[in-house]
Amino acid sequence: MIELLHVSKNFGVDIHAVNDVSLTINNGDIYGIIGFSGAGKSTLVRCINLLERPDSGQVIIDGVDMMKLKPKELYKARTKIGMIFQQFNLMPSRTVLGNIAYPLKNMTREQINSRVKDLLSLVEIPDKINAYPSELSGGQKQRVAIARALANDPNILLCDEATSALDPQTTGSILQLLKDLNKKLGLTIVVITHEMEVVKQICRKAAVMDAGKIIESGDVFEIFSNPQHQVTKNFVRTTSNLSKIETLIRDDSPMVKLKPGELMARLVYIHADVSEPLISYASRAFDIEINIILADVEIVAGAMVGGTVVIFNGPRERINQAIEYYKSKDIRVEVIADAGITA
Ligand SMILES: Nc1ncnc2c1ncn2[C@@H]1O[C@H](COP(=O)(O)OP(=O)(O)OP(=O)(O)O)[C@@H](O)[C@H]1O
Ligand SMILES: [Mg+2]
Repeated sequence: MIELLHVSKNFGVDIHAVNDVSLTINNGDIYGIIGFSGAGKSTLVRCINLLERPDSGQVIIDGVDMMKLKPKELYKARTKIGMIFQQFNLMPSRTVLGNIAYPLKNMTREQINSRVKDLLSLVEIPDKINAYPSELSGGQKQRVAIARALANDPNILLCDEATSALDPQTTGSILQLLKDLNKKLGLTIVVITHEMEVVKQICRKAAVMDAGKIIESGDVFEIFSNPQHQVTKNFVRTTSNLSKIETLIRDDSPMVKLKPGELMARLVYIHADVSEPLISYASRAFDIEINIILADVEIVAGAMVGGTVVIFNGPRERINQAIEYYKSKDIRVEVIADAGITA
């Protein structure tokens, strides 16, 4: 278990990169830390292996207070925490073998060769052992970096924007690999990212970071379906089709031109089942028109989440009844535009 207790890290007097952060990451979790650039994510993750020494607070890993370790003990503890980066950080003058063997100490040449081969088949590029980094694709480079990070059989893998330099498909395959490693090796994985998509694909739990603080944390599904903080809402929107409505409005699209009496709203399903019956039911029950402009329902952490953007048309009283009905069904209703009440 990784426990951060009131961890703070300042740079100079003005920059509070990490500001009183407390966080618990259970063994075997894939834990996401998401935030915009400059939020303090890298600094926070570097506090876990003490690459950055916190100014105050405690870093406790499996019951061991990391800040109390002597240099030699810390060195040893660090070998059990692997780390990978956005730019892979491979040594260009060494082959894949040389890169992965680098952290291996006190082993014979045969032992090293056999260990590297095992690691390369684990990351699914067994044939690249003699290649140089310049001969590899981005995805392959990251696989080598993962193999190197796993060389000393760590319990924890820290990933700082590990997929940010990769295209979406390669990102998907690296995330799948991390997921497999988590399962196969029981590896605890901490994923730092500014992409909600990444969190959505592999994390079970996540924390949202802003200006050095954790502003929201919990199950990914909860965060997705019911974000509390504005920063979190912005992140959730970046991955949702429903945010396109803002573009349509900005572009003055005829699709979203309201007639008098109409009201446009975003319906966000929190624990609801399916969209369709809820729309047609309300339309019939309250005798109003409900036009779906956009819909985006998807699966996050194994549960349904998403919503629709609709335009209501009808007597305002009945529109309001429909809205109350939705709210009673645990659907969040956000009015986007209102053309007022018809005369
Ligand atoms: N070594 C340093 N010296 C001075 N300031 C630093 C240092 N490292 C980070 N900072 C500052 O601390 C703040 C947090 O930086 P950090 O790199 O942790 O953010 P981040 O969330 O990882 O951002 P990004 O998504 O861009 O990587 C920033 O304001 C940054 O300028
Ligand atoms: Mg960073």
